[in-house]
Amino acid sequence: MSRVRYHVSSSVASRTSDDATDEPLDEAFARAVVEGLSAPQKALSSAWFYDDEGSRLFQEIMALDSYYLTRTEHAILRSRGYELARRIAPDARPVDLIELGSGDGEKTLSLCEALARRGAQCVFKPMDISSHALEQLSQRFAEHLPGFPVQPLCGDYFLNWPATDPGRRQVAMFLGSNLGNQTHDGAIALLRRMRAHLRPGDALVLGLDLKKDPHVIRAAYDDPEGVTARFNMNLLTRLNRELGMDFDLDQFSHYATYSPLDGAARSFLVSRRRQIVHSRRLACDFAFQAGETIYTEQSQKYSQGMIDTMARESGFDVQCHFTDERGWYTVVVWQAVDTAA
Ligand SMILES: C[S@@+](CC[C@H](N)C(=O)[O-])C[C@H]1O[C@@H](n2cnc3c(N)ncnc32)[C@H](O)[C@@H]1O
Repeated sequence: MSRVRYHVSSSVASRTSDDATDEPLDEAFARAVVEGLSAPQKALSSAWFYDDEGSRLFQEIMALDSYYLTRTEHAILRSRGYELARRIAPDARPVDLIELGSGDGEKTLSLCEALARRGAQCVFKPMDISSHALEQLSQRFAEHLPGFPVQPLCGDYFLNWPATDPGRRQVAMFLGSNLGNQTHDGAIALLRRMRAHLRPGDALVLGLDLKKDPHVIRAAYDDPEGVTARFNMNLLTRLNRELGMDFDLDQFSHYATYSPLDGAARSFLVSRRRQIVHSRRLACDFAFQAGETIYTEQSQKYSQGMIDTMARESGFDVQCHFTDERGWYTVVVWQAVDTAA
């Protein structure tokens, strides 16, 4: 069921008169919400999870027993830090380490410690849409690795790229299986975008979650403590606050699935009853049937074969991969190939 009434202009600039005291409207967010909640299958991008409370809840998720991803990736970065540092800074050439969607940087700190031990001339350039996450990252580095150069950039990795000097080696990094939030086509487009910013010989370090026992995967997105449910529901709180919407959180629930057929974990918000949700700031209504869902996140799980194919499709050569003993998670290093050659 789509919206029942919608009269927001295409620029999403129209405001109701009681907006005067509100924060400025984030037009990109407003437009995405109108489009997403008007589609036959309602959907909102997982990028919108990360307001300050969303970033805080994600930190709670990362500490959960069932959320194996962070712990496993961190263990790989710590135990293979020496070899990774050697791949990132193979010689005396200075390096820009560009991390997309860095979050609070806890795991990257271990890697930067290994780079510092190696004596690498490295500037860490974390990029995230959450200024809150970047502030935490900066504090963490100031406290634990003072003197290591950090140049944070608050921006969207679909649109922005930090300024770099052509004389420096660029190493892009995309951890936390963030790539898995994209469809296959979306992932290839994003990887090609990264490749376009890199020069031949530059590198990309990716952290990717592997296919495994479906029970283990599903539990990571539906923890018994209910933190992931709160994280998903926080999106509705954000819509209420920023777009003046009137979602009743008691009338929605969190639902998570994993399909071994396509290797995708998916999260939804489910309307518990037939209802209409109004946005005061956008002056429009959205109708929900009982049981209707908003698709909020995809988390793709990969086989090694899928990963190697993605490298070829996006202009990279596979250099090496570091996988934990259980074979649950992998950190891969790819090299940008010279497509003109
Ligand atoms: C799943 S968390 C991973 C954080 C960290 N890389 C890790 O592995 O722990 C995703 C991070 O990406 C950021 N993010 C999501 N979409 C983004 C975008 N389009 N541009 C920049 N950052 C984004 C979020 O704010 C969040 O900090």
